[in-house]
Order: sequence, then structure tokens, then C-alpha cells
Amino acid sequence: MKARVSAAKDKIHQMSKTLIWCNEEKLPTWSFEEYEDEAKKSQDLILIDNFACDTSKFKNEHPGGEKLITTYVGKDATKAFYGVLNNHTRSARQIMKDLRVAKVVRNLKKEN
Ligand code: HEM
Repeated sequence: MKARVSAAKDKIHQMSKTLIWCNEEKLPTWSFEEYEDEAKKSQDLILIDNFACDTSKFKNEHPGGEKLITTYVGKDATKAFYGVLNNHTRSARQIMKDLRVAKVVRNLKKEN
């Protein structure tokens, strides 16, 4: 029984990795300047692992408080997210991945 549960967990883990990968593939690509502009407009976007995360539906539920999220709007929150105040758990990382709305590439050159 224990082995079956463990096998099922492994399978779910593998499947979830594929799902996240598919989502990432579909996301638009923004330059860092585009990310900053979008963040100025919405006041809800933070950057983690080079992905813009829309925190609008999550920030008031954040266990660390809304203020810590809003401090990083338009900035790079990667170090803070994996940092000393709280090196976020696996489930926090999953929530963060679900909030991704764009991949952000520094020095992106777009064709007109
Ligand atoms: C989309 C981004 C974020 C998500 C989804 C998120 C999610 C979470 C979750 C689920 C927890 C509960 C503990 C855990 O599972 O690790 C937590 C705690 C915490 N978070 Fe975040 N977080 C985000 C961004 C940030 C940022 C940018 C900071 C800035 C430093 C931060 C600071 C903290 C702190 C200090 C706690 C601990 C609260 C306590 O235990 O009293 N988080 N976060």
C-alpha cells in the first residue's frame, strides 16, 4: 500500500512538472522594461526566477503579509523569495508558479 501511494505521488509530481512546463511555453515574453511598465499599471506584478507573477488574487492571503509582496512590485523578488526571511516551501513555490503571467528576458531585442 505504501509503495502504491508513493508511486502515485511520483506520477502526480511528474505530471505537474509537465503542466507547469506547458504553461511556461504559452506565456508571452516581456523585456525587463515591459515588466516594469506593466507593474506600474497594475501594482500587482513581482518578478521571481525571471517570471512576472500576478499577485492580485494572492497578496492579501500571503502568510508573510501583503506589505512584503507590495514592496517588490516592479522589482526582482527572487532573492527575497528564496532568502533569509523565509526560504519558501515547495507548496509556496507551486503557488508562485501558478501566478506566472509572462517570461521576462533582460536585454530582449524585439523585432518591430
Ligand atoms: C508570489 C510570491 C509569493 C508566494 C506565492 C508566497 C507564499 C508564501 C507561503 C505559502 C508562505 C507560508 C510558508 C511557506 O509555505 O513557505 C509564505 C510565508 C512567508 N513569505 Fe511568502 N510568498 C511570496 C513572496 C514573498 C516575498 C517577495 C517575500 C519577501 C521577503 C515573502 C516573505 C515571506 C515571509 C517572511 C514568510 C513567513 C511568514 C511567517 O512565517 O510568519 N514572500 N509565503
